[in-house]
Amino acid sequence: MEKEIHKQTHLTPNLPDYKKAYKGFQWEAVRTELGLVPPVNIASKAVDQHARSWRRNKVALYWEGAEGQNCKYTFYELQKESNRIGNMLLNLGVRRGDRVFVFLPRILELYTSVIGIAKIGAVAGPMFSAFGPEALRDRLLDSGAKVLITHASLRERIHQVWDELPELKHVIVVGASAPSASLRAGSGGHVPLRKGEVSFEREVEKAPRGLEVEDMDLEDPLYILYTSGTTGKPKGVVHVHHDMLSHYITSKWVLDLKEEDVYWCTADPGWVTGTVYGLWGPWLNGCSQVTFEGRFEAEHWYSIIERYGVTVWYTAPTALRMLMKAGPEVVKKYNLKSLRYILSVGEPLNPEVIRWGMEVFGLCIHDTWWQTETGAIMIANYPSVPVRPGSMGKPFPGTEAAIIDGKGHKLPPGNSGILALKVAGPLPTQGWPSMMRALWGDEKRYKEYFTIPGWYTTGDTAHVDKDGYFWFIGRADDVIMTAGHRVGPFEVESALVEHRAVAEAGVIGKPDPERGEIIKAFIVLRHGHKPSIELEEEIKEFIRHRLSAHAYPREIQFMDGIPKTRSGKIMRRLLKARELGLPEGDLSTLED
Ligand code: PRX
Repeated sequence: MEKEIHKQTHLTPNLPDYKKAYKGFQWEAVRTELGLVPPVNIASKAVDQHARSWRRNKVALYWEGAEGQNCKYTFYELQKESNRIGNMLLNLGVRRGDRVFVFLPRILELYTSVIGIAKIGAVAGPMFSAFGPEALRDRLLDSGAKVLITHASLRERIHQVWDELPELKHVIVVGASAPSASLRAGSGGHVPLRKGEVSFEREVEKAPRGLEVEDMDLEDPLYILYTSGTTGKPKGVVHVHHDMLSHYITSKWVLDLKEEDVYWCTADPGWVTGTVYGLWGPWLNGCSQVTFEGRFEAEHWYSIIERYGVTVWYTAPTALRMLMKAGPEVVKKYNLKSLRYILSVGEPLNPEVIRWGMEVFGLCIHDTWWQTETGAIMIANYPSVPVRPGSMGKPFPGTEAAIIDGKGHKLPPGNSGILALKVAGPLPTQGWPSMMRALWGDEKRYKEYFTIPGWYTTGDTAHVDKDGYFWFIGRADDVIMTAGHRVGPFEVESALVEHRAVAEAGVIGKPDPERGEIIKAFIVLRHGHKPSIELEEEIKEFIRHRLSAHAYPREIQFMDGIPKTRSGKIMRRLLKARELGLPEGDLSTLED
């Protein structure tokens, strides 16, 4: 095992003693700390309460556009804008419980719309701006969305499928009659509207600033996010206002957010990380956030950290690997001294990346594990707990995680099995407040998560060591069985990227008559390396040495890029389907 990393932050962590907190944890205490007295609306707690306090003029959001334009928004401005959006929606006939989907680039209106929707008790459905017409149709149709808020540059895609969406009454277009609030380039402002479309700016202009925020029952739906399963169309995971308890306390204890922090979550709200930790969680803590409309670009990313003085940074392993690939010369050009805490989520964090982080930032990167369904971080590395590189860390206080077999028996340390979370009793909390409450309109698939009594099964396999650290193996369906050995693709990918020539790797199990499956690796080379038989052999040999004889890739294919989801996960399912000539399935989450 790698050496533990002890020193992680020079500030006193918000969670100074993990063991004590885990032992004595009570959700009731969090409720009291947040002052959560129902009925209450998450938007009042995350925005309005600050706008009415001394934080009124504190910057809530630093926005940077794709072309480098930028603006700041205070909590007061967020309150005012979201109130008007709430009123605009009421004027258009939206009522409590109606679904309002948001299909916008990462501009201010995306954030204020989600808040405004929550304020009137409607249910927000954030979607990635890169979605194509089919992905839009599936989500809008399944959820029965009444209104869509989109941008002039994206509206064409909805026109292609609108006929198939009988419940969609209005499309509100940002940037059609005036440049949008966040000065988005190219939104010229004079796009003629079509039947059924209304201008966001015009409607907002008419709407009053004062809004009576809807008092919500904690169990009322707040947002729906669609996530892919192994089969079928994406599932609409439903979350409720009660989630705010989990949002608040995980942001405080795991992200370690403090009053003076400038926090940057690189995720889009179309992915649950961007909704929970790029919007609600940090604002429930009154924290200043940064958002960047543009795509990944190493220099631009580093310059954001430098220019805004980012202190806490929540990102994904893919992004970190790409930064690593960009090389040490790039990082040296920027002053990144403001950074004090870095976290990652979404896929396994390779120990190699942690080592690189220690070198270039002088900081340990903290892995966190959770899912769209769990609604908040469930397993994490904390500033007060030594990090074991390659481990996802320990369960968040108030949740019990375990490795179980198919009958629900806990397996002893070291054994791989199903990663499961204890669920206790009926709703509302089923174990923790942010647990999904339903899959929209799909009771059957929802129940599939709970077929082992007493447990929520995550679909992941993992093991736990004797000290309670959890180690990810793979998605249950990604695990490779080769000659009787269980091999997690991550294990192999992680070892592959340690080879000097390998930038990125995706690994699948390929059916083999002799071995059940063999390991096949798809590899993107670093600059300056060319595919060759010699290099192939060298890489195989490297892994054989690193891991074991059964874990080395018997087949290697060099590629220009690895297919990934928009949230940066390697799409092994797609690699496999292409390899085997099978249907590619739902590609709506595939990155361009
Ligand atoms: O397989 C696990 C992987 O991502 C899955 C959840 O995907 P999604 O709902 O899109 O993620 C939401 C944001 C967290 C998990 O079942 N995953 C997530 N975090 C990690 C991870 N795999 C390994 N290590 C992680 N830290």
